[in-house]
Amino acid sequence: MPLADFDLALFGGSGDLAMRKLLPALYALCRENRLPATGKVICIGRHPWNTEQFIAEIEKEIRPAQPHQWHKFYTRISYISFDATDPAGYAPLIEALRTEASITRIFYLATPPNMFSRICQNLHQRNLITKYARVVLEKPLGRDLQSARQINAEVGRLFDESQIFRIDHYLGKEAVQNLLALRFGNVMFEPLWRREWMSDVQITIAEEIGVGNRIEYYDKSGALRDMLQNHLLQLLCIVAMEPPVSVSADAVRDEKLKVLRSLKRFNQDRLVQNIVRGQYRAGYVSGNAVPGYRNEPDADTNSHTETYVAIKAEIDSWRWSGVPFYLRTGKRMADQLAEIVVRFKSLPHSIFAQPSSSFLANSLVIRLQPDEGLHLNLMAKTPGEGIRLRPVDLELDFRESFKMPRMDAYERLLMDVLRGQLTLFMRSDELEAAWEWVEPILNFWEQEGSPPAPYAAGSWGPAAASALIGRDGLQWREEALPEV
Ligand code: BG6
Repeated sequence: MPLADFDLALFGGSGDLAMRKLLPALYALCRENRLPATGKVICIGRHPWNTEQFIAEIEKEIRPAQPHQWHKFYTRISYISFDATDPAGYAPLIEALRTEASITRIFYLATPPNMFSRICQNLHQRNLITKYARVVLEKPLGRDLQSARQINAEVGRLFDESQIFRIDHYLGKEAVQNLLALRFGNVMFEPLWRREWMSDVQITIAEEIGVGNRIEYYDKSGALRDMLQNHLLQLLCIVAMEPPVSVSADAVRDEKLKVLRSLKRFNQDRLVQNIVRGQYRAGYVSGNAVPGYRNEPDADTNSHTETYVAIKAEIDSWRWSGVPFYLRTGKRMADQLAEIVVRFKSLPHSIFAQPSSSFLANSLVIRLQPDEGLHLNLMAKTPGEGIRLRPVDLELDFRESFKMPRMDAYERLLMDVLRGQLTLFMRSDELEAAWEWVEPILNFWEQEGSPPAPYAAGSWGPAAASALIGRDGLQWREEALPEV
């Protein structure tokens, strides 16, 4: 179905996210002729640039290779500078937006969350919210349950839920949707996907990068708010949800919500035992010396903000009772990777002249980045005389298998916004359920007041994280890998 023509008003248009992700994604879509020819992008920022200067800035970021493609893109772009919190400033936006009913109007709010309600109210006051308008809300969606509820309520007064697109860009990653395909497009995993056969699930998002120039935002946020409350919990939902009745938005979101609501709540003991937070100190990442978090430019030298968090989550349901889900994320880690490791139970008995303890339990690794693919670890016979088993890896590399151009998460999600397809966006109740679960952790840390455990940049996080999983007789994947 051809896409309707659109006017996309991008608030936070001169910000980091717009420059690094959103505008490059729109450029890629334009280059691939996926956008309607006359779709317009109106960027709104506080930087006092004119359109020409703004285009020169994005050109530096995108570095287009083909002048005609670049021309096709930048002629859609305009830039206006005004204070979005002031309704009086909206006149240039009103002028830039087309009024035909056939044009889909999209307001993309890549701004701090405390501006969401104000901007929506101003759009309403200036009569800009049409019946088919859509609003896209970028994370962070609040900083606790109360602020998330407030955003939901205030934006929800002006836009219908079907018009609200809450972005979590992890849901737009190819491998995440492949996990849906794997689970619900194959029959062989379903019988094993449960407590009887699964030992544990580990979900890791490790980054080599530090906080870069985002310290002002990051220091008020930390890894729990920045990554765990959203990206990691969304991945957990995709792994743990029951088969939805279809891939329609509400069918999928209903199932994810059920998972969030079944997460075991934290009591005092579990808050102490099941959570580790860390902060990086100076170290070496990929052979380069890097400063500690507190010595980053403009950092608070006494900051207690966590740059690492590991949590043992449990799901109270028939399928998952007793299967721990270990979630962890950190900056300045030993590797740059995002993966989900599903580990199966160990062999009950060995019929070979080898003790069952020498068998590596089967595992399925879903790699999200840097490469996208699947690894299934099996035990197989070593060639030659006698039967001696050794772990082997069945590998599926999506890039190799499909040899098709891949889409960046933001490209996919922007296309979904243009199509009005909500499956990969969070619903208001999901957002609140996720905050509800993490809020006791935030409160506990605040009351407790102790600093996060230090870890060296370039390591896998604080030693306490190994102890967290070790108490269950398990290890993180990199600790358990056999030396072959
Ligand atoms: C963002 C976080 O949501 O995700 C960043 O705010 C983080 O701190 C980024 O670096 C990671 O995304 P990706 O797609 O690069 O893994």
